[in-house]
Amino acid sequence: MKIIILYGGKSAEHDISVLSTFSMLKAFYYDYYDVQLIYISKEGEWVKGPLVKSAPATQDELYLTAETGQVIQPSDIKEENSIVFPVLHGPNGEDGTVQGLLEVLDMPYVGAGVLASACGMDKIMTKYILQQIGIPQVPYVSVSKIIWKETPEEIFNQCEGSLVYPMYIKPANMGSSVGINKAEDRDSLEAAINEAFLYDQRVVVEQGIEAREIEIAVLGNEEVRTTLAGEVVKTVDFYDYESKYLDNSATLQIPADIPEEVHEKARQYAKQAYLSLDGSGLSRCDFFLTSNNELFLNEVNTMPGFTPFSMYPLLWENMGIKYGDLIEELIQLGLM
Ligand code: DAL
Ligand code: MG
Repeated sequence: MKIIILYGGKSAEHDISVLSTFSMLKAFYYDYYDVQLIYISKEGEWVKGPLVKSAPATQDELYLTAETGQVIQPSDIKEENSIVFPVLHGPNGEDGTVQGLLEVLDMPYVGAGVLASACGMDKIMTKYILQQIGIPQVPYVSVSKIIWKETPEEIFNQCEGSLVYPMYIKPANMGSSVGINKAEDRDSLEAAINEAFLYDQRVVVEQGIEAREIEIAVLGNEEVRTTLAGEVVKTVDFYDYESKYLDNSATLQIPADIPEEVHEKARQYAKQAYLSLDGSGLSRCDFFLTSNNELFLNEVNTMPGFTPFSMYPLLWENMGIKYGDLIEELIQLGLM
């Protein structure tokens, strides 16, 4: 059996994908599998690398080029007796596009299918689904680019009519806090909406709240398991891309120090959200928790980070599943 690892990706989360892949390569059971690397450059070129028998010495070796690998067409990845592991974060990989290609090629793959990937990546679609099944979330306004260009006053009125400052402004399709900003007044709201539109055609403005951030890991296909929660302990006001990945200013508390009934509620919501999005394989479900123990579901990540300081693998480790066994379990779920 061959595992084809698709990583990199035409996405702002490209480097996180490479780091997730580098961590995974240290954990594969190479005696059982051939591991094939296929790198997708930031420009969207697919480069087939060598078969790897052990983890590369450095992460830099994973940035393949036409010199270190072979440029291929996406459909060239089709191979019998193989499974694809799309270790891709963000648009063009975690959003159902690559999953659609793999469906058409009739290849098994790890993780969520087309629908769950597309809905999980899109913050507005996720909100509509959660609303439908009655899972609490913070108040929000969704903004279309056409209306923003034609009548920004209408958007300001909607936001200021139903939300209070501070607000958080996010592109509908993104991850790792890319393009997200906090607004304290109308000027910063305008600047933030304009910036978010650099990344997507649709933008969401959310009510900012004083809250802790807790996360639950979900694993399974038909039988769905959840972990105890972990907390992202904030040492900065806003846990942005930089604090997440560059200066390590966020620390993780696992398990989170929260009341048992809150743990239970969060696990129940995470599972309900997973089922209603038609999840498979894995996902990480992120919540806000207020000081009076009110929970709001914030987002569902269908291919959460797998770096050494990523919450998803650490949450399972806390439940007794080691990183290597978790990868193995995900492969088995992908083959089901
Ligand atoms: N989008 C990043 C990789 C995460 O959720 O972990
Ligand atoms: Mg998050």
